[in-house]
Amino acid sequence: MTDRLGLRKLVEADIDLLEQQFQSAAGAGAEQWFGFWNTAGLRQRLALDQFIGQQDGALAIVLGEQTVGKVDWFTSTSWGRANTSACWEIAIGVFDSDRGAGIGTKAQALLVNYLFTHYPRHRIQATTAVENTAEQRCLETLGFVLEGRIRQSQWRNGAWHDQLLYSVLREEWEKRATS
Ligand SMILES: CC(C)(COP(=O)(O)OP(=O)(O)OC[C@H]1O[C@@H](n2cnc3c(N)ncnc32)[C@H](O)[C@@H]1OP(=O)(O)O)[C@@H](O)C(=O)NCCC(=O)NCCS
Repeated sequence: MTDRLGLRKLVEADIDLLEQQFQSAAGAGAEQWFGFWNTAGLRQRLALDQFIGQQDGALAIVLGEQTVGKVDWFTSTSWGRANTSACWEIAIGVFDSDRGAGIGTKAQALLVNYLFTHYPRHRIQATTAVENTAEQRCLETLGFVLEGRIRQSQWRNGAWHDQLLYSVLREEWEKRATS
């Protein structure tokens, strides 16, 4: 099934779906639900630059013609000066009804390929909640390396939660692709 999976630019109809899908704990995912958010920003962003920015971006995940989620990337400057030490951080949301079928793993592989192909940055990182075993499995399957635990870094559902930091480097990704 995932051989029909692809990424493409977001369009207006996707925004309606994102509003419907990600405005609840079940839709956003228990570990990604931070309460309601202002979805007007999605339409403004689409009109501004179609979600293809200099420092961040997003694409629709499609299975054939059907939109099944969204991937995002943004610049992380946690490790040094922005002009020399920036890396990408990625995030993903698969629609509730489409989870557990390999889409999360394959879509993030497509995104990593896309980012290493079109930008010269050498490091892609991802953070996920310690409770989010599905996302951890996705990242580990793709060869992301667990770098550490960021303690009590995220406020969610009435409590502080630890996050796990993962990364993959360009040379690791290229080696994996050719092995
Ligand atoms: C995390 C997420 C992207 C995974 O996508 P998915 O399409 O369900 O993932 P896959 O089908 O590729 O499965 C990946 C692995 O997770 C496992 N998995 C799937 N759902 C699971 C669940 N509810 N609990 C535990 N493991 C689960 C699968 O068995 C698979 O493991 P395996 O490779 O050992 O067989 C998806 O659940 C999601 O969008 N969640 C809400 C948003 C979110 O948490 N985003 C990630 C943080 S930014």
